[in-house]
Amino acid sequence: MATKTLDNKDNSTTGTGTSSTSTTGSSKKTASVDNATVDKNEMSNSPLHKFFVSALKDIYYAENAIIEALGKMQEAATTEELKEAFEDHQLQTQKHVSRLEKVFKLINETPEKKECKAIKGIIEEGEEIIKSTEEGSMTRDAALIIAAQKVEHYEIATYGGLAQLAITMGHDKAADLLEKTLQEEEDTDYDLTEIAETYINFDAEQED
Ligand SMILES: [Fe+2]
Ligand SMILES: [Fe+2]
Repeated sequence: MATKTLDNKDNSTTGTGTSSTSTTGSSKKTASVDNATVDKNEMSNSPLHKFFVSALKDIYYAENAIIEALGKMQEAATTEELKEAFEDHQLQTQKHVSRLEKVFKLINETPEKKECKAIKGIIEEGEEIIKSTEEGSMTRDAALIIAAQKVEHYEIATYGGLAQLAITMGHDKAADLLEKTLQEEEDTDYDLTEIAETYINFDAEQED
């Protein structure tokens, strides 16, 4: 698993994520031990903050769309094991939505959805798979697993990047929440691979 490190070593000039250093050199810096306190107005006007909020709105839309998609995939799946995996992750996804709402709150922003074309496309692909595979077949499950993993990989890329940005910008509590969700997406991806490789792919291969 490609778990990202919490080190803030990339292009940052501000030292570690727990430092309260302002990149602007403002004289109004306030030291805070557990969470960086940065001048709120400066923070909310920065291009990076705007991008961060916009990306949060994107994944907030995506998570809500995923809840619905997982319901359809659960209904369409052949095996009980895959149905359960989709159901479990649907419950987790509801938590992802409420964690995002907490993240918005932590950075003084309002939760809002922004249409995410990427996830719409990935979900549409899943719907096409349901239409083009036979009901009750193992081929359908093998294909649905891949469709679900495409969703997970989109989420992993998003949460991995946003957690790192949150650390860089001193939003440590928000970063913790994003990391928690990232871990659950990675675990789900891993579990889906396990299900596929245990028997679903082999059984699908026997179908004609
Ligand atoms: Fe999620
Ligand atoms: Fe997910």
